Amino acid sequence: MSNPSTRLSRRELLLTSSCAAVGAAGAIYGFSARPARAEAVQPYKAPASGKRVAHVFDIAERPTALPCFNGKAEPLWTFDPETPFPIVRVQLGDTFAARLKNNLTRPGEHLTIHWHGLRVPIESDGVPFITQQPIMPGSEGAYEFVPPDTGTYFFHTHCNTVEHFGRGLFGAFIVEGDEVHKSDAEVVLMMKDWHVAADGTLGPFSTDEGAAKGGTAGSVRAINGAARPSFDVPAGANVRVRLINVDPVRITEVGIEGANAAIIAVDGNACVPIPLESWRLAPAQRLDILMRSPADGQRARLIDYYAPQPVMLADFAAKGPARRKGKFVAHALRAGSVPAADLKSATRVPFDFSATATGEAIAEAAAIGFDVDALCLSRRTFWAINKQAWASVDHKDLGPPLVTLKSGGSYIIEMHNLTSHAHPIHIHGHTFEFVSSSLRKLPPHRADTILLMPKERVEVALVGGKPGRWMFHCHILEHQETGMMGYVAVA
Ligand code: C2O
Ligand code: CU
Repeated sequence: MSNPSTRLSRRELLLTSSCAAVGAAGAIYGFSARPARAEAVQPYKAPASGKRVAHVFDIAERPTALPCFNGKAEPLWTFDPETPFPIVRVQLGDTFAARLKNNLTRPGEHLTIHWHGLRVPIESDGVPFITQQPIMPGSEGAYEFVPPDTGTYFFHTHCNTVEHFGRGLFGAFIVEGDEVHKSDAEVVLMMKDWHVAADGTLGPFSTDEGAAKGGTAGSVRAINGAARPSFDVPAGANVRVRLINVDPVRITEVGIEGANAAIIAVDGNACVPIPLESWRLAPAQRLDILMRSPADGQRARLIDYYAPQPVMLADFAAKGPARRKGKFVAHALRAGSVPAADLKSATRVPFDFSATATGEAIAEAAAIGFDVDALCLSRRTFWAINKQAWASVDHKDLGPPLVTLKSGGSYIIEMHNLTSHAHPIHIHGHTFEFVSSSLRKLPPHRADTILLMPKERVEVALVGGKPGRWMFHCHILEHQETGMMGYVAVA
């Protein structure tokens, strides 16, 4: 049971044991995830609303006593003096305008904001030195764009991110306008573990051993900064749960007990509703779940099945008179405007993900009990894409692109994980369409971050997006910072 790559998820068991198609699986669980009349995912055109949603992000160090810190205030770095993890909401078609003030006091601690998953123009992509000059301490920057797709996204900085995530510098970004049938309530859940040392101080966020293996795990599990929080929801209601894995390390396998639920979007992208048995959610991935909450006084539970012992992450306490009667039907959301690749004419692009010689040596030394962090490596380059390792933690030494794509061209990206660790691979400015996996059976879906399990081969399709240099990297942030990053040029 200890090697997760050999274990099937509950969903995979379901699919393999019954060979059930998505629609039929619902019958097993006593509800239909698909409406009676097959309702396909319908695309829309983004209407220009003319509305401008303005935000000011005042990034500073703020001692914050998250509920999971047991009363102790830790020196978090946050976007907003009022709330640690802000939730930005816009309607499809709105213009989003952000001002960013860097009020960090550490010399040279520069910032940019990346809008993860949003297909924004390259100037707004928020990668220091590549898409913009970084915003130095004491100075300001600005972003303005119209998000092209609805869905659940998040935002974060793009340099020294192991520490930035470790100190809480992230927020949710929601583009509304995809519900054909309005849900009755909504909760936004940001899952992240915190690195609290035995003496109660924050850190360390990274170790050489962690970086050369699966990442340095935090010590305190939490959702929205609280351990096992409880959320009040209306009873007998259709509740939308927007789940964001903002952890830089942890892979989860999420499910809901005590309520019928269906997956309605993956990484913000509407899918044909999939009855939720469980779903593997890796760092940076999001899942939109529609759940029919239980009766007044009862609770539904969010569970992580990834570890051999399931862990309860949060619960939903149903309150009040039932909002709905009759069978639970999860209707499809409207789809975004992501173009579909032409699989027949698509050009194949191979990407190999590997460990460097140093990375392998460090992982092996750690495995036999050697204290590798005592080595004080001058250069931490443990991982590579197509044998190219990103040269430095910052983004200054820009090598050649991993590949150059044509804007509008169709591609099948063949990703091969040669390592014995998992890697959630993210591309900026584009959305992948899942095609196949050598190890797992997954229903059709789109995603901006694709999990590669150890030794797995995954094929995804995409259409070359807007011209620019788009980052392509592992979202286990210690892997990103130790070589598993590159960029794709679109011309
Ligand atoms: Cu959320 Cu370049 O990443
Ligand atoms: Cu990785």
